[in-house]
Amino acid sequence: QPPTIIAPSILSADFANLASEAIKILNYGADMLHIDIMDAHFVPNLTIGPCVVASLRKSLDSNISITPPSIKKSGLLKDSRTTFFDCHLMIENPQIWVEQFKLAGCDLFCFHYEATDDPVGCIKIIQKYGLKVGVAIKPATQVDVLFPLIENEGIDMALVMTVEPGFGGQSFKAECLPKSDLQVTALRERYPQLDIEVDGGLGPTTIGLAAEAGANVIVAGSAVFGASDPASVIRSLREVVDA
Ligand code: DX5
Ligand code: ZN
Repeated sequence: QPPTIIAPSILSADFANLASEAIKILNYGADMLHIDIMDAHFVPNLTIGPCVVASLRKSLDSNISITPPSIKKSGLLKDSRTTFFDCHLMIENPQIWVEQFKLAGCDLFCFHYEATDDPVGCIKIIQKYGLKVGVAIKPATQVDVLFPLIENEGIDMALVMTVEPGFGGQSFKAECLPKSDLQVTALRERYPQLDIEVDGGLGPTTIGLAAEAGANVIVAGSAVFGASDPASVIRSLREVVDA
């Protein structure tokens, strides 16, 4: 299994102090930043666009000087940057936004399978712009839809949602979890080397099953930013996945 990557979601950060929150969480041991982009169409919430990502990129490039070891090991980060931006696009027509997010400084462009009629075309655009490709599925989407994309298009990451996308801080849904776990298990059995990301409701008390199923990229928003000791939360997530 590829290296364990802990990816705090800045959706739970204080947006008035976004740069310092991001720097803080990286200094606490985060491996990359998970950036949730929502358009109020694909999901019933509205977050940030490329201009905020661009400002964040500028700030982090001048404030963070060390690339976390697991990111180095993973080979995901190819530019001369130190901080990897894992952008999760919960938007319709993702293909028309690739160029702007590339210019803004995102490293991986992860779109939702459900958000486009032409996932292959979208992947090709992302690759043309030299970004890593992620494809996300909502809890109800069958994981099989990803198999041809993984096998024929060479995507870099599969994201299995463990809550309905749209909001941070949702409690872990018991009915989503077994399904998501099966999805992750099916992916891991088939693709031992694939980066498999899970997102939604994850924290030290809920990480066990996702880790056991084989997820190696762990998104955590409220569990990390809401903690009195975020560093210890990041450490304990990593320990469970590594075990
Ligand atoms: C939800 C987002 C998540 C969210 C996770 O739609 O994709 O990344 O920020 O937040 P928590 O970890 O609080 O569920
Ligand atoms: Zn997300």
